[in-house]
Amino acid sequence: MYILLYKHLLSCCSSQLSQTEDRRMASLVSVLLTTFLIFTIIASASVNLSESTRSFTIVNDCKETIWPGITHGESFNGGGFSLKPGQSAVYTASPGWGGRIWARTGCNFDKNGNGTCQTGNCGTSLNCTRPGNPPASLAEFSLGDVDFYDISLVDGFNLPMIVKAINGTGNCSTVGCDGDLRQNCPSDLALKANGKVIACRSACEVFDSDEYCCRGTYGNPGTCLATNYSKSFKQVCPAAYSYAFDDPTSLTTCSGADFIVAFCASRNQTVCSYHDKQLACNQSKGIRPISQGWWVPMLALPLMFKILVIF
Ligand SMILES: *[C@@H]1O[C@H](CO)[C@@H](O)[C@H](O)[C@H]1NC(C)=O
Ligand SMILES: *[C@@H]1O[C@H](CO)[C@@H](O)[C@H](O)[C@H]1NC(C)=O
Ligand SMILES: *[C@@H]1O[C@H](CO)[C@@H](O)[C@H](O)[C@H]1NC(C)=O
Ligand SMILES: *[C@@H]1O[C@H](CO)[C@@H](O)[C@H](O)[C@H]1NC(C)=O
Ligand SMILES: *[C@@H]1O[C@H](CO)[C@@H](O)[C@H](O)[C@H]1NC(C)=O
Ligand SMILES: *[C@@H]1O[C@H](CO)[C@@H](O)[C@H](O)[C@H]1NC(C)=O
Ligand SMILES: *[C@@H]1O[C@H](CO)[C@@H](O)[C@H](O)[C@H]1NC(C)=O
Repeated sequence: MYILLYKHLLSCCSSQLSQTEDRRMASLVSVLLTTFLIFTIIASASVNLSESTRSFTIVNDCKETIWPGITHGESFNGGGFSLKPGQSAVYTASPGWGGRIWARTGCNFDKNGNGTCQTGNCGTSLNCTRPGNPPASLAEFSLGDVDFYDISLVDGFNLPMIVKAINGTGNCSTVGCDGDLRQNCPSDLALKANGKVIACRSACEVFDSDEYCCRGTYGNPGTCLATNYSKSFKQVCPAAYSYAFDDPTSLTTCSGADFIVAFCASRNQTVCSYHDKQLACNQSKGIRPISQGWWVPMLALPLMFKILVIF
């Protein structure tokens, strides 16, 4: 659009002015116009930076189909959809969005989107309008000038998951798991179907005690401490809440980032997203889109040429 506008402006004004026989003036105007347009483009690029919508890429790296559920998921296809192994979906969250993202497994939805799931069930609809049933691993987001995000296993674990922030500024560290707790679930917490562990329940859900649920005399960070159960969660998912008053470093902040929520991925894995039709992968200092800055030489070249013509 900018390029079209640029060509249009140049042709209109150059021709009008050359009729006044002041070619030098015409060139000067077009130089000024070009310069102005370059600055407009740079300015609009920085406006994009502070824009508060965020792109979310939800990736299924699992070997099975999953049905992500999202609360306050109006901008996420209404709060639910399916992802086959290897598939991903990209959504744009509205400014200031806050909510949860988790996976449902073992679902059986009919063509109307009615059905239920083995884990993470949020009712009988493909679109979730309430949180999923425990046990389920979940990502929590609170977007603003600074975005807060974390992975929580306080309600148990059903799938390994990570959240990566790309192209942001601030801490922006990757949160989540390095392994699959279903293989290391303490036997008294294991939820099984057909002899297979399909999820790992939280000690709070299983024993319903003040100590495990951080209630009553255990209702503050000073008294509610890690237990042998929460430690087994922490071991597999070091950057996740393993109980209600877990180390607050599990909560991470980042500004202006796009997010990748990947199921069955580990923190050290490279994950990619599509944003503005560009493939973006995590890198230590943010991502480098393949075509970033292509317009700088394209616009600078004619400008330099024109300066040469005038002088
Ligand atoms: C889920 O919500 C989306 C968006 O509102 C809608 O298009 C879709 O039909 C809904 N699906 C079901 C099964 O209700
Ligand atoms: C199934 O879905 C249809 C269309 O969304 C809805 O009208 C109907 O009530 C649902 N049936 C059940 C049993 O939930
Ligand atoms: C990354 O950030 C730059 C600005 O720093 C922005 O121009 C670019 O569009 C962003 N890329 C993606 C893929 O978000
Ligand atoms: C990532 O971590 C997992 C488990 O922690 C390990 O098995 C794997 O080799 C690591 N991969 C890379 C690329 O470092
Ligand atoms: C955790 O501790 C409780 C009692 O303190 C014990 O009964 C239970 O077996 C322990 N569980 C694990 C996984 O070590
Ligand atoms: C980001 O926060 C995490 C958890 O609080 C911390 O371990 C890490 O060192 C921080 N990274 C940076 C670059 O500040
Ligand atoms: C993405 O992040 C992981 C872990 O921080 C790192 O091992 C990997 O090399 C990164 N990928 C790229 C393309 O930089």
